[in-house]
Amino acid sequence: MKVITTIDEVRDQVKAWRNNGESIGLVPTMGYLHEGHQSLMASAKKDNQRVIVTIFVNPMQFGPKEDLASYPRDLERDKKACQQMGVDLIFCPSADEMYDANFNSYVNVNGLTDALCGKKRPGHFKGVCTVVTKLFNITQPDRAYFGQKDAQQLAVIQRMVQDLNIPIEIIGCPIVRESDGLAKSSRNSYLTDNERKAAVCLYQSIELANTMIAQGERSVATILSAMQLLIEQQSLAKIDYIEFVDLSSLKPVSQLTQDTLCALAVYIGKTRLIDNFIYHH
Ligand code: PAJ
Repeated sequence: MKVITTIDEVRDQVKAWRNNGESIGLVPTMGYLHEGHQSLMASAKKDNQRVIVTIFVNPMQFGPKEDLASYPRDLERDKKACQQMGVDLIFCPSADEMYDANFNSYVNVNGLTDALCGKKRPGHFKGVCTVVTKLFNITQPDRAYFGQKDAQQLAVIQRMVQDLNIPIEIIGCPIVRESDGLAKSSRNSYLTDNERKAAVCLYQSIELANTMIAQGERSVATILSAMQLLIEQQSLAKIDYIEFVDLSSLKPVSQLTQDTLCALAVYIGKTRLIDNFIYHH
């Protein structure tokens, strides 16, 4: 497994693989890898002859009051996690390698970024789309793998690839959870023991919603207030948003009469966690 920090070296390796007719799968990450990331690597490994994992905590997608400085990092542990999955190349550039002093070009996907996290984290998806476009251009993969855990991110990148004719197949992968249902996340490492116990309320609210839906409930207001009530019982939790939106347009819905994404963001103490489920009509 190669660990590379410069764009030129990645290009050389990619060219050699391409000349050999080998296919390439890309897994973009911000590191502090867990089984969620590894499930993307496993899918990439299955579909492609070569797998590239990028590890880059992208400053552009963090707001001024967000956790860029404290975001967890452990490259040595990440190398082992990648090695275990049979990854061929880790690209872990510095911020200077990715953004030179005169950097001034951005990729914006409009509309889809107005809802959910886009509303709460202005500029976030512009940062994500810009860095993902750069990583696509640097690694030129056949396929790129993204988790359903970040459902809006996946939808935005699918839109971007279609709109800009980027010749890469985007593969969405299911959410990997802890045994109590908490979605795996690098940010779970911020949680104290008590917060970790409280954090299960996101998943519990999803289970409650799914039970109500299974019993025939279709009113978003009714399901939403039950979810809110459950989470509000947890004193360490503070809801940032819970929204039901059309799965493709991400526009709000009031009845479950189409494929719907229910996405939530909840603060557990100071840590903001997200989760979601999809209702298929
Ligand atoms: P990061 O949060 O490190 O996530 C990298 C990829 O892993 C994303 O596609 C995310 O959806 C997926 N992932 C995270 N937790 C998961 C889980 N529990 N189950 C399944 N997949 C999971 O998302 C980013 O980094 C960045 O925004 C990035 C795309 C790398 C751009 O900087």
